[in-house]
Amino acid sequence: MQGLTIIDHPLLAATVTRLRDETTLVPEFRRLLDQAATLMIADVTRELASKKVRVKTPLALSSGAVLKREVILIPILRAGLAFLDAFQRVMPTAKVGFVGVKRNEVTHQAHTYSSSLPDDLKGLEVIVLDPMLATGGSAVATLDLLWKRGARELRLVTLVSAPPGVATVLKAYPTVRVFTAALDAKLNSKAYIVPGLGDAGDRAFGV
Ligand code: PRP
Ligand code: URA
Repeated sequence: MQGLTIIDHPLLAATVTRLRDETTLVPEFRRLLDQAATLMIADVTRELASKKVRVKTPLALSSGAVLKREVILIPILRAGLAFLDAFQRVMPTAKVGFVGVKRNEVTHQAHTYSSSLPDDLKGLEVIVLDPMLATGGSAVATLDLLWKRGARELRLVTLVSAPPGVATVLKAYPTVRVFTAALDAKLNSKAYIVPGLGDAGDRAFGV
């Protein structure tokens, strides 16, 4: 599917397998989400624009490169928080904005209950973090906020996705690049991803 990258790596697949396992408990689940994000970062950031610079080593002048544009990381609360540290470790100067979105358990509609974002996102590389992409409602609600603030360079990082969620996001925002570790079979009647890994927020934060 155009716009979707399924990251194929044996260590990532092993990490997803342990996350799926119903016997994996909260501290280990959170550590594994951090590990999965770490393994995905190189692919997610591979095409970030860079520019050439000169750097003086102890021995000589050398050519080097730095990122061309500022990066802003946007975890979708709650589960996206578990991806944040890994991205901040490799991009410590990235800005961070927060969006709180919760699905209604009956209608499955996403409700945005909070956001803390710069007014102007023009020219920034925006990386949205949320391990689960089910119906796509939470991701689209977040992208709506970001687009209104001028964000155009948009990446969405998920761990487990369902085909309807990917389709919904790419229909609404065809230029967004979506990265996932697994594209699962379907959604069940409660809009949970099957086989999935259950409720990522609950499993990461124990509520
Ligand atoms: C989960 C998950 C995503 C969303 C995905 O959040 O973390 O944000 O569901 O589902 P969707 O693609 O159908 O919108 P949830 O609403 O359970 O909130 P929580 O993270 O606070 O538990
Ligand atoms: N949110 C989750 O945490 N898991 C799902 O399977 C669907 C939405």
